[in-house]
Amino acid sequence: MIEIRPPTDADRAAIAAVGALAFNMEARADQVAFDNRRRLCAYAGEGVVDIAHSSPFGQWLGGKQVPCAGIGAVAVLPEYRGQGLARALMGELLARERHAGVAVSALYPANSELYRQLGYEYAGLHPGFRAPVADVPPARADVSEMAGADLDGVISCFSCFAAAHNGPVQPTDRARWEPDVLAHAGEGTHQRTVVVRGPEGEVAGYASYFLENTGDNGYRVACKHLVALSAPITPGWLKPWPGPRNPVAVPGLGRPPGPWPAVPIKTGALPTGLTGWPKRRAAPGPKPGPTWARPHL
Ligand SMILES: CC(C)(COP(=O)(O)OP(=O)(O)OC[C@H]1O[C@@H](n2cnc3c(N)ncnc32)[C@H](O)[C@@H]1OP(=O)(O)O)[C@@H](O)C(=O)NCCC(=O)NCCS
Repeated sequence: MIEIRPPTDADRAAIAAVGALAFNMEARADQVAFDNRRRLCAYAGEGVVDIAHSSPFGQWLGGKQVPCAGIGAVAVLPEYRGQGLARALMGELLARERHAGVAVSALYPANSELYRQLGYEYAGLHPGFRAPVADVPPARADVSEMAGADLDGVISCFSCFAAAHNGPVQPTDRARWEPDVLAHAGEGTHQRTVVVRGPEGEVAGYASYFLENTGDNGYRVACKHLVALSAPITPGWLKPWPGPRNPVAVPGLGRPPGPWPAVPIKTGALPTGLTGWPKRRAAPGPKPGPTWARPHL
């Protein structure tokens, strides 16, 4: 018999093991956080066979942040897949969120059918771009490594970008920015966040990136966030990375409000892929059109 319930501290190792197998990653019991996350597991006897959690996020809709459940780590042990367990656990997790007053949720799906059955639909795009570093213009602004005191400036810089769009999400817990949102250990190597300052010393733009081995003694500068509140500072952070062997992956996340700035990259910066910003839609029914800013309280 399968039972769905919140886990206890004693289940940390089992939760880590289910996640590690599902996502092909190293995971330690002490990395399984319970603080500020709503976790549910499905148990076969005492064994954890299915996991999922949600974290408090805000989703930007119409210039305001709406409370949003950020769903993560949905995983089922291989031998228990195909029996409706993920659907059942997610259904229970979303019902609990809704009961707690959180009307929308968002996730990055690895599988669209499962989430469509639960009422999600694609609701936005997070485009990625690649360009050779050598083709990016030199810095036009001073860049410095982010200091601890800059974190609030970085968050407000992102919020300023996000408020101008429908759909971006961000954790409401400030403590999650450095270990989760910005480039962090577990993503490539040499994770760094650099900032560019405005006239008052405020953070006017930032880039958070890590290095990715390409397997041929080269590496890519993989930029996770690139946020600039004015166009001229956009390429400034690239100053330390000259050289034809190091192409750069630049996500399109960081455009300022309004039209795209003219960043004069010489050769074409080609989109590399698109990932969605899905959200839970208002009620079961036909696939909605492009309007998706509708909570379902
Ligand atoms: C994705 C995953 C969580 C699904 O778990 P599951 O318990 O087998 O899923 P369910 O049995 O509840 O499936 C519900 C629906 O999702 C769809 N689905 C499930 N697995 C699927 C797969 N591998 N490919 C395509 N569709 C799939 C099916 O439409 C299914 O509906 P059906 O019963 O009408 O066929 C599980 O395969 C897994 O742990 N994968 C590895 C980790 C992962 O990718 N997690 C998702 C991160 S977003």
